[in-house]
Amino acid sequence: MTKKRLTILGSTGSIGTSTLDIVRQFPNHFDVCALSCHSRVQQLAEQIREFHPDIVCVGSEEQADWLQKQFAAKDLTIVYGDEGLIQLTAETKVDLVVAGIVGSAGLRSTYAAIERGYDIALANKETMVLSGELMVTKAQETGSTIFPVDSEHNAIFQSLVGHQQSDIEKIILTASGGPFRDTPLSQFHQITLQDALNHPNWNMGNKITIDSATMMNKGLEVIEARWLFDIPVSQIEVVIHRESIVHSLVEYTDGSFIAQLGLPDMRIPIAFCLAYPARLPLRSEKMKMAELGKLHFEPVVWEKFPCLEMAISAANLGGAAPAVLNGANEAVVAAYLEERIHFLEIAGILKKVLEQLCLSQKSQENHYPFLHHIQTIDDALKADNWGRLEAQSLIN
Ligand SMILES: NC(=O)c1ccc[n+]([C@@H]2O[C@H](COP(=O)([O-])OP(=O)(O)OC[C@H]3O[C@@H](n4cnc5c(N)ncnc54)[C@H](OP(=O)(O)O)[C@@H]3O)[C@@H](O)[C@H]2O)c1
Repeated sequence: MTKKRLTILGSTGSIGTSTLDIVRQFPNHFDVCALSCHSRVQQLAEQIREFHPDIVCVGSEEQADWLQKQFAAKDLTIVYGDEGLIQLTAETKVDLVVAGIVGSAGLRSTYAAIERGYDIALANKETMVLSGELMVTKAQETGSTIFPVDSEHNAIFQSLVGHQQSDIEKIILTASGGPFRDTPLSQFHQITLQDALNHPNWNMGNKITIDSATMMNKGLEVIEARWLFDIPVSQIEVVIHRESIVHSLVEYTDGSFIAQLGLPDMRIPIAFCLAYPARLPLRSEKMKMAELGKLHFEPVVWEKFPCLEMAISAANLGGAAPAVLNGANEAVVAAYLEERIHFLEIAGILKKVLEQLCLSQKSQENHYPFLHHIQTIDDALKADNWGRLEAQSLIN
């Protein structure tokens, strides 16, 4: 494998540090050229000492000044803020950009990398949810390949290698089902915040844990899959798989199902993106098939998870709907985490925001072009913000 030059956006986060762990294991395969963080500047300083990038980006001018003092004698360019992030991404000539920034803050830098034709290892979910069409259209223009890092989409990518798009019957996303997969709908009114934060399989951040409990997370993944694999929403299915071993599957027209299996370790999909088409002999715990016992697959009980259905409706509506839903969901989940609303109200508020979107699109007044077509990253961010504000006013 020829040595690859890497930019790692969000190098201090979970995806960023897992990526650097792989680089640490395979120093002859990768050169770290650019790193970015937002607030954890001391951690970034340690990464600079270990990986010797040419350029780094931090959140603020003060952090940049602090870093400058630490590395005064070194040949290191230090930039900061949103502009700095674009500069770092666009001006550093690399083979692959790892997009590991969290939230909508990751959109502009990912787009800048795609505009330059760089390949992307895409972890940032909002990129595809808010602006999937824009991103893939630009990638087709510039020749940039988008490798999905998210374990489900990475599994689908792996299951598609060597096959023809026209032979796909369905893409099947697996879902753990979250903490309420076995709770009868009749008991949903008793759900407490603690119940919702108690995920059976994973220990993750609060926002994503609530998204798992409502299955909104899987809905957002349907939207991502629609764009990443250029497939109609009607050909994407969600199935409950409680063991989280089969990360997702592709069903082909001849009746064959091809899946990717493995222990839940994000370094596996990240390493696939970094080394593609090669495979890296990762030093990590290996799955023992004989010890797995049984794997279970069940249908989704749709009545229990209206957020999943709503995300699929937003994907079908297209345009601004996924971005509006994303912004609204962030506001609603924040309110739920502050115990300002009940679990059952999450879906109710989101439904009203989507209804409001349809009304606004038809209305002659309040004419916002970004609610009709997402033509720029600005439009996507405005639609996301519109959804957030609508939800906040309903919550209040
Ligand atoms: N973690 C996973 O297993 C996983 C799996 C699939 C997909 N993803 C997706 O991957 C993305 C990253 O997830 P993560 O778990 O690595 O998140 P994380 O641990 O919170 O790390 C986020 C990174 O983004 C940086 N950041 C935060 N706000 C920023 C801003 N306004 N501008 C620039 N940089 C900013 C952070 O910098 P500081 O640390 O300096 O604040 C950090 O480096 C998310 O979209 C997530 O949904 C994650």
